[in-house]
Amino acid sequence: LFTHVPAYPGDPILSLMESFQRDARPEKVSLSIGLYFDEAGRLPVLDSVRQAAQFLAANVEPCGYLPMEGLATYRQLVQNLVFGAGHEAVRAGRIATVQTPGGSGALKVGADFIKRYFPQAEVWISDPTWDNHLAIFEGAGFRTHGYPYYDASSGTLCFDRMLETIRGLPSGSVVLLHASCHNPTGLDLSRQQWGALIPVIVERGLIPFVDMAYQGFGDGLDEDAWAVRALVDAGAQAFVANSFSKNFSLYGERVGSLSVVCTDPATADNVLGQLKATVRRNYSSPPAQGARLVQHVLQSPELAASWDADLADMRARIKDMRARLHQALHAHFGERRDFGFLLSQRGMFSYTGLTEAQVDGLREQHGVYLVKSGRMCMSGLSRDNVQYVADAIITILEE
Ligand code: LMR
Repeated sequence: LFTHVPAYPGDPILSLMESFQRDARPEKVSLSIGLYFDEAGRLPVLDSVRQAAQFLAANVEPCGYLPMEGLATYRQLVQNLVFGAGHEAVRAGRIATVQTPGGSGALKVGADFIKRYFPQAEVWISDPTWDNHLAIFEGAGFRTHGYPYYDASSGTLCFDRMLETIRGLPSGSVVLLHASCHNPTGLDLSRQQWGALIPVIVERGLIPFVDMAYQGFGDGLDEDAWAVRALVDAGAQAFVANSFSKNFSLYGERVGSLSVVCTDPATADNVLGQLKATVRRNYSSPPAQGARLVQHVLQSPELAASWDADLADMRARIKDMRARLHQALHAHFGERRDFGFLLSQRGMFSYTGLTEAQVDGLREQHGVYLVKSGRMCMSGLSRDNVQYVADAIITILEE
């Protein structure tokens, strides 16, 4: 019966995590999957989350189904965090938000919704992007295309070509954008560049779909959401997927959400209803525990402040690792090779420009795991392993 079913080649990122776990070498370093590790190489349990978990454990509730759209308070708190508590669109009630299983769940619900109500639309995604963007939108039946984003020869953003391509898209095209901490390049648009792009999106009648999986890992919670808010301020109707996997270190709880910014509350009501129907068709209703944890933290000014402070520490540690790796490589190469990109790229990832063969060499000879595109997850570095990683890169580059 199943003889025609081909073998699954594996997910380019998750397979590496599996290989890393099987790797018996004690010196191995995981710089592949986007997980935040602390200085000791562990996934942190944030103090605010621990306190929330203790509260929930002491106040165990019956575990019924959540509504299709998720917890009401959580959804309101998400809107405050993503758009800003006092934002006009939030106060007007013209945003439809559903709680989803992580950011991937948000992308899938959004993709299915768009496919149903804009069946002719095609989807434009930065080249390169997170591999799963393509898989999710193609899986929902879309044709996907890349818009220019990264110029490999200079290692910089090719914004003019990006803007030119987006300006030429047919009205009704979906444009997937990364809010901040672009995955995989670590290169974000400046505010000035957003300022040039946003009017094009609005005037051309394009459908912006913003993925914000790393809020707080760039410059701060509000700073990283700046582009989302600027889009809405400019009158865009937009999809926004956000995730609490990384910023709450709650990967396995699958906690995220999808917001759709509409023109008015009545439209938002209809959109919310159809998002609920989309959820029902996919997984019926979202899981409860992760959203309860996030809700508990965000509802409490003290816990929210503690979370924000922890996020600031995570950001600072990543920046420190960027500086240390840069220093170690610069000490060896001097002016022969420029690693300045390590300092200027933002968020968890750096795009190293290493070739697939060099990435293979790092993994096979040194147990240093990067994604085959050359993407390096900076939070896998620590003061203990950064020199080892630098030495491995030096060896590979000098071969
Ligand atoms: C990544 O890009 O490594 C993360 O978003 C994790 C994932 O699911 O791929």
